[in-house]
Order: sequence, then C-alpha cells, then structure tokens
Amino acid sequence: MKPVVLNSPDQNKERKRTDKTNNFEEFILDDSFKVLGSNKYYYLYTYGCQGNESDSEKIRGLMEGMSFSITYDLDKTDIIIMNTCAIRKNAEDKVFGELGRLKQLKRKKPDLIVGLCGCMAQEESVVRRLLTKYQNVDFIFGTHNIHSLPSLIKRVMENKERVVDVLSYEGDIVEKIPMVRESNIKAWVPIMYGCDEFCTYCIVPYTRGKERSRLKENIIKEVEDLISQGYQEITLLGQNVNAYGKDFVDHKYDFADLLSDLSELPIPRIRFTTNNPKDFDDRQIEVIKNSKNIMPAIHLPVQSGSNKILKKMNRKYTKESFIELCDKLYKAIPDVSITTDIIVAFPYETEEDFCETLELVKRCNFEGAYTFIFSKREGTPAANYVDENITEEIAYDRLYRLNDLVNEGYARGNNRFLNKIVKVLIEGYSKSNENILMGYTENNKLVNVLGDKKYIGKIVDVKIKDAKTWSLDGEIID
Ligand code: SAH
Ligand code: SF4
Ligand code: F3S
Repeated sequence: MKPVVLNSPDQNKERKRTDKTNNFEEFILDDSFKVLGSNKYYYLYTYGCQGNESDSEKIRGLMEGMSFSITYDLDKTDIIIMNTCAIRKNAEDKVFGELGRLKQLKRKKPDLIVGLCGCMAQEESVVRRLLTKYQNVDFIFGTHNIHSLPSLIKRVMENKERVVDVLSYEGDIVEKIPMVRESNIKAWVPIMYGCDEFCTYCIVPYTRGKERSRLKENIIKEVEDLISQGYQEITLLGQNVNAYGKDFVDHKYDFADLLSDLSELPIPRIRFTTNNPKDFDDRQIEVIKNSKNIMPAIHLPVQSGSNKILKKMNRKYTKESFIELCDKLYKAIPDVSITTDIIVAFPYETEEDFCETLELVKRCNFEGAYTFIFSKREGTPAANYVDENITEEIAYDRLYRLNDLVNEGYARGNNRFLNKIVKVLIEGYSKSNENILMGYTENNKLVNVLGDKKYIGKIVDVKIKDAKTWSLDGEIID
C-alpha cells in the first residue's frame, strides 16, 4: 500500500536551530475520538530513557482517552505501538528484531495495527527502511507530535491508510496531554524538551529538537497535583536539566530557582536527571545543600577522563573542571552519591586517554556508572571520525576493564551503609521474590526487606544488615 506521507524527517532541518520563541498550547481531545477504541486493546513497547518512559505515559493517556484498554498479551491486542530509542545501534537492532517477529503475528492477525514512534521515527534512514521493508508498520509519528496519535489512529482504522507524520522541527510545547502514569508512588516530571548541546556522538539534538523549557507555573501545578494524589517522589527530566530556563527570552528563571521553589512544596523526595557538568553552577549546589527534600544522589555524566577526547566530543568542560565540580558537591552535600555515564573507544581514544578515564573514575569516587562502547550514529559529526586503531577487541577490553572498576564503586557505595539506618521509599514487591519488599534509599540504593504490604508507598527506617554489589538487605524498624 502506498503510504500517505504528511511529514517526513529531514536531518538537515533537525540540525537547524532557530531563535523562534516557544509557543505553548493546551491539548484537548476532540469528542470524535473518545469511543474509537471501545472494546479494543493496545500493547505498548517502551525503549530508551526516562524521557521516553514519560512520553509513553502520555501515549497511554491518549489511548485510554480514546477508550482503548491496555493489554500485556500480544495475541489479544488490536494495536501495537513501539516507542523507540535511537541512542546506539543495539537499541535500534532490538526494535527491528521485534518488528521482524511481529510480521508473523500480523500474518495471523491481518487487522492488527502497528505504529512506531519515538527517536527512531525521527531518522530519515529508519523511516525509509520501515516503508520499504516493514509493510507491517501502519503508522509512524515523531517525538514532536505525540498529540497527533488520535487523528493518525483514526485515519488508519477508518481509511485503512498507511500514514507517516514526523515533524523535523520542534513544535509547540503542548501542555495537558492526558497521562496514565506507571506508578502511583514515583512520578516523572519533564521540565524541558530537546537538547542544544550537540555532543559529536549524539543523535538526541536531532531526534528531540531544540531545547525548550516548560513554564514554571505548569511544572509547579503538575507537582502540586501529584502531591495531592499522594505521590512521594518526583524526578525532574531533561537532557540537560542544569540549562533549564536558559531559553526564556522575556523573563529570568533558571534551574536553581525551580529547584528552590519545588523544594518548598510538601513532596518528600525530589530527584533530577540528567545533569550536564558544564551548566551545574554554584547556586544550584547551594539550593541542593540547603533543601531537605532534594535527594543526595547526583547523576553526572563525564563521558571521558581525557581532555583531548572531551574536546572531540564537544563536551565543553575539562577533566579538571569536572573534578572541581565533584569536589564541590562532596563538600556541600557530605553524604552525596555521584554516578556517571562513560563512553569508551571513542575515535582517537588511545590507551593513555583510556587510562585517564580510569584515573578519573578512581579520583571521583563514583558509586555507579552506565558504560558504553561508542556507537556510530548516522548524521552526527563523530560518524565521520575514522580510527582504524580501535578494533572491536580493544573496545570490549576497555569496556570490561572499566566495568571492573565501576563495580568496585557500586560495592563501595553500598558498603558504606552497612549497619546504618536509612530511609527507604517502599515501592512494591521485589522482582525476584514475591515475599520481599523493595525500595530505594535517599542515595538511590536498592534495598530489599521483609515486610507487610502496608508499607508500600511509605518511607520507612531500615537497618542495613547486608551489603552486596547491586543491592542492600535490611530490616524495617517500626
Ligand atoms: N543528556 C544526557 C545523556 C543522554 S544519552 C547527558 O548529556 O548526559 C545517555 C548516555 O548515552 C550518554 O550519557 C552517553 O554516555 C551515551 N551515548 C550517547 N550517544 C552515544 C553513542 N553514539 N555511542 C555510545 N554511547 C552514547
Ligand atoms: Fe546528547 Fe550531549 Fe545532549 Fe546529552 S547533552 S543529550 S549527550 S547532545
Ligand atoms: Fe533514546 Fe531518544 Fe532517549 S535516543 S535515550 S529515547 S532521547
């Protein structure tokens, strides 16, 4: 079937930044959509970062606003939506693998509708591949027009069309898209969208567009609503939360201001991610230090410990300034846990550069890290960097050596709580054992405890009895 292409992605346009000011719009679900999904089911795949998890909560809100019910059974579903991630090749391979398997399901159930959205939808090459090789994908939409989902589904259902609607420029900030949240204890709260950093390896500035901050009023209102619903924890989301508000042209209000205002609200726990070292300033540290409800766990991606590589990555800070920032955080927030992200085998990374990364990991006392082998992303500057010295073998060798060191950090970070009493927000039952409750400490350490379900959703005192590399075991103290 020939697809109806309303808009398709164009990486050259995605790369552009205009000085257009943000427009804010309020979403209203038209009555004509509200019964479209009566007696029908949807199945939702979510890959990628917390930003995508948060988008999936909007997708759920829209689907349920149209009367579709969620199912976790592929045989029962009428619609499948795949919310995808493009950050590394293996993230995309997973999606193509799953789409391959879904071809069989579609043969069995010809009326099944499959939609794909998220960051992969923003890539020209992916959309081309989907249109030619994956006839089982019925509609594609992008990260800027999640709110188009109802009208796209209507077209596919009623006109039996194949539709592509992917915008290459950031649209308005759309408020009030309904949400069905995954948890009734912890909530994601996006404070900004997009990214203007253009780290040379990264696809996000293309797939998510220009950096746009939500207005303070809308964020505070959302958090107040969450508090009234009994939520215990919020995590503020953005690709560089420290740059929040820098795009406001008619008023001044930045991340330190936002943190300060939110910390006055009666929400027990505030977290935020991800931080960019370059924009983490002293005022932000001061606010964190002086607040009681901003948690002492900071995720601070460094990417590399070599100034040469940091420069090639366009990270805009140095090893020295990163160390200084960590020292300031340790001094201001004595109990803080710092975690990071690191890429190994970036083009031109020599053994010496890599050893500088190892040294930095030791120096900064990280209590955890997400570690990755560099993955080429088409259209990014680093995709054109060629370094034949780095073989797959070298890349894996560096990754494993780094992981050994990082794991020592995880263990050290957990060990320091042995025999201490810590506050744990109990979230539910442990995945591996249905009789054990699990939750996280203020420092974001996973804790397992024996206990009654009455504790779920509560913050309790726990005495830590055993520290393992990945988790702590403890006992609730009533
Ligand atoms: N905005 C966040 C990161 C979002 S992506 C920040 O700047 O810290 C999450 C992590 O994926 C990055 O921190 C980086 O370590 C990794 N990553 C991004 N692009 C990558 C690529 N092309 N190859 C390997 N890892 C990558
Ligand atoms: Fe990617 Fe860099 Fe933006 Fe993070 S800050 S999303 S790594 S471009
Ligand atoms: Fe992936 Fe897009 Fe997030 S590429 S990491 S889902 S911003």
